[in-house]
Amino acid sequence: MWEHKEIRETFIKFFVERGHKYVRSSSLIPKDPSLLFTIAGMVQFKPYWSGIVEPPFPRATSVQKCLRVNDLENVGKTIRHNTFFEMLGNFSFGDYFKREAIKWAWELITEVYKIDKGRLSVSVYEEDEEAYNIWRDEVGLPEDKIYRLGADSNFWGPAGGAGACGPSSEIFYDMGEKFKCEREDCGPDCDCDRFIEVWNIVFPQYNQLRDGTREPLKNRGIDTGMGMERLTMVLQKKDSIFTTDLFYPIITAVEELSGGRYETNPIPFNIIADHIRALTFAISDGVIPSNEERGYVLRRILRRALRAGNEIGFEEPFLYKLVGVVVDIMGDVYPEIKEKPDFVSVIIKAEEERFLKTLSSGLSIIKEIMDKHSEDRKVSGAEAFKLYDTYGFPFDMTKEILKEKGYDVDEEEFHLLLEKRREESREYQKFQHDTAEFNIMKEGEQVFVGYDTLEVETEILMWRKRGDIFELILEKTPFYAESGGQVGDRGIIEGRDFKMEVMDTVYSGPYRVCSGKIKGEIRDRRVVAKVDRERRKETERAHTATHLLHAALRKLVGEYAKQQGSLVEPGRLRFDFNAFSSVKDKIRDIEEYVYENILKDIEVEKFYTSLKEAISMGAIALFEEEYGDRVRVVKIDGVSMELCGGTHLDRTGEIGFFKIVSESAVSSGVRRIEALVGKRAQRYIEEREETMAHISTLIHSSPEKLKEDIKDIMERLSLLEKRVSLLSREIRNFYFEMLKNTRETIGNYNFYSLNTSILDIEYLRELSDKIREFDKNSVGFFVSLMDGMKFILFRGESVPVNMKKLTEIIRGDIKGGGGGRDDFVQGGGKDREGWQKALRRIKDYLKTH
Ligand code: SER
Repeated sequence: MWEHKEIRETFIKFFVERGHKYVRSSSLIPKDPSLLFTIAGMVQFKPYWSGIVEPPFPRATSVQKCLRVNDLENVGKTIRHNTFFEMLGNFSFGDYFKREAIKWAWELITEVYKIDKGRLSVSVYEEDEEAYNIWRDEVGLPEDKIYRLGADSNFWGPAGGAGACGPSSEIFYDMGEKFKCEREDCGPDCDCDRFIEVWNIVFPQYNQLRDGTREPLKNRGIDTGMGMERLTMVLQKKDSIFTTDLFYPIITAVEELSGGRYETNPIPFNIIADHIRALTFAISDGVIPSNEERGYVLRRILRRALRAGNEIGFEEPFLYKLVGVVVDIMGDVYPEIKEKPDFVSVIIKAEEERFLKTLSSGLSIIKEIMDKHSEDRKVSGAEAFKLYDTYGFPFDMTKEILKEKGYDVDEEEFHLLLEKRREESREYQKFQHDTAEFNIMKEGEQVFVGYDTLEVETEILMWRKRGDIFELILEKTPFYAESGGQVGDRGIIEGRDFKMEVMDTVYSGPYRVCSGKIKGEIRDRRVVAKVDRERRKETERAHTATHLLHAALRKLVGEYAKQQGSLVEPGRLRFDFNAFSSVKDKIRDIEEYVYENILKDIEVEKFYTSLKEAISMGAIALFEEEYGDRVRVVKIDGVSMELCGGTHLDRTGEIGFFKIVSESAVSSGVRRIEALVGKRAQRYIEEREETMAHISTLIHSSPEKLKEDIKDIMERLSLLEKRVSLLSREIRNFYFEMLKNTRETIGNYNFYSLNTSILDIEYLRELSDKIREFDKNSVGFFVSLMDGMKFILFRGESVPVNMKKLTEIIRGDIKGGGGGRDDFVQGGGKDREGWQKALRRIKDYLKTH
């Protein structure tokens, strides 16, 4: 049998022997910003056809990791659809064209893979005579095996809406009568599972522009893509991609975990097997489930897998346990998934935990909705919206479930409601923010001059007053506005008739707005603006140190320890990053790395360049942020290079001192480090020293001997604890015996009473438990005078008297009360001596009840 590894190797070998350069799969996250995921083998080569980049080789071959979600709701239900899949491809950039591509494809599948020719048919684009003739005259296919199809099926691309595209020719495999659909003329143009498209041979010859127009492609060529999973199914003679060796071990593992059988209900198993591959590969490539873009796609995939799991009885997180199986199957081919499987599992598990509750409540509500509409089978948009808005249940899941059960949902109404809700929240935010209009003093744009100067003469463009806070927008401003984690500047703005103390600077649209209180009145627009230098400097210490810390983490924890969030304040920084477990044991090394680079006193260079250039120099960009064409690079030679708009020191030595003060978890897969720099770090050390001196005095030790003396104390303490616990047991036994001997018979009951100044109420409670257990006919009144007056009243299980009632009776005597159950009350009173009267009253009561 063909094993999956052999299938890939054979493909590559075939094309390498024909002059192709083998190129490794690129990441699932493409460089091309117009694509969310890599959807085909051709994605990494796109610029070679258009000629933006000179092709470094004329022919290439690859096995590419791909992710597509356009068919998400079909995945698992057919024998052939996937989200994550591999594409085997051969490519030509301005080199060979149709003839070689077609003949080689045919040779490979019929002579090397030896697929039965009788089961193969092909399609060509209806206007492509050249391809038709090659198939008929040179390959020798009979005419009834060559289908002419329209642009819908036989014109490919462009990926991402622009770039290389062209007509294509596809090769189909006939799975046999068994898979036939209803259609009389069931054939390759049919959507059923009988004729499976295995290989798509595209002839890119146009370059499509963003506006849809097409021009001839500079390097016309070849782009082919064969579905690895489908080829494997054919070669391994299986009835579905899911029973090949690419998926089956996952399905077996799911059977074991769930106790269910694949044969009885294959769809949920297929869904899980497909989706866990997508999750494992995408998270390994750096996508984290979230509410945006790629992260959101992943979230949808994971939730769909959880629903499939729910159908076969999983109630707890389980997907994360399957990561190892995927790594076992694919890790040799894609070593990147072997790098951090634990991280991947942790991320998946956290997501599972997050969604499981929503899932189960959502599913039961959907069921109610369906019951309600079992007649007309129509669900309103409002019902679906409520499920989404109130319970957080995803709409695409609602849709899929309803569709499966033959219900319609009013999508239009749903989207209207969604839009309305968005509108409302926008309105609300607007209301929160803009209640006063700006007064315009001068037309013009604002320029930021704060990289180079901290004091400037300038003019006010606009100002407004909100409550007693003024907001000023200056024409030239040295004030840095909060962004990229760095806090806004403070300082002073002074005009002829006023002085403003700037408390904060933030962005409002494109403007940096300074806010604060004003003394005087704004009559003239000319001002002098001064940033608080000391505070700015301390902030810059923290910011430059943040870059050193980021570099340290990537070096000492791993490349994946990427920034997830950051806060840069005067003298203090907080940095969130990816890591799958605590990095506490690396703190000393991290500090040392940062500190060494402070001592080296390296220049901090800042310059502008194009995004492309910056990336090719190896600068780290946080792609959650949007960059324009011109980007600012902050470079610490040999250590760090990041795209960053923040303000920085000129040399690392100015940081002075760096100290990590905490390391903690933020969410699963994200850790946080907090550190101090410069003067603040120094103050921190001073405070620690003071604390240490204070402790030393308290325990009559000295800082030098502190460690040893505390160890001694701890040892003594644990010895004492042991003794105390022995003694308390003794005392309890003693009191227990004593109480047994001094109990009185009152009416029908055995009455136990005790008052003490040396036992606390907790202790008495334990004692009462013992008595109640020993004597079912007991009633007890225990008083502790250790800390005010506290008491408990209790009874054994055969006594019919209600202790709460009894408490009511003694309220006046003790000037207090209590609470608890019928058989046990705990309380207290203001009158320390009152318990004696209470005791008598209790006894009297018991005599008569
Ligand atoms: N780009 C084509 C596809 O994805 C062939 O590789 O089908």
